[in-house]
Amino acid sequence: MTDKELYQIAESMLPRSYAPFSEFHVGAALLTAKGEVYTGVNVENSSLGGTICAERTAFVKAISEGATDVKAIAVACDKGEALPCGICRQFMYEFGDDLRIITGTDSEHIRVHTITELLPLGFRLRPGHKGD
Ligand code: THU
Repeated sequence: MTDKELYQIAESMLPRSYAPFSEFHVGAALLTAKGEVYTGVNVENSSLGGTICAERTAFVKAISEGATDVKAIAVACDKGEALPCGICRQFMYEFGDDLRIITGTDSEHIRVHTITELLPLGFRLRPGHKGD
């Protein structure tokens, strides 16, 4: 699975995004060490604060299915490149330092960052534990 292919899966999720308030549609596709893919979309809520980002949707799906060894996540958006929000950065940092985050404006223009580039010196309740 290439970064471009993972990004294209994230793009394919955009129609499932539930974003009636912001109309900012986001799709995510997460790749595990075993080569499994878990997808996600942002799911907004009338309370606004209850909104869940596409990245966290994908992570919650993966973790709840027993997949903790996450290698990469691609994020696509219908309004241009979407870099993960601060809450998602902290959420994803829980599961390792080496996670690769693929973003872009389209599948021909992607960028890759590691989670520690996006969140230097992140918080861990148990230093040294990474998703275990
Ligand atoms: N959003 C995501 O799903 N992921 C991002 O990386 C950025 C923001 C969502 C949350 C909300 O539904 C909408 O985009 C606007 O913030």
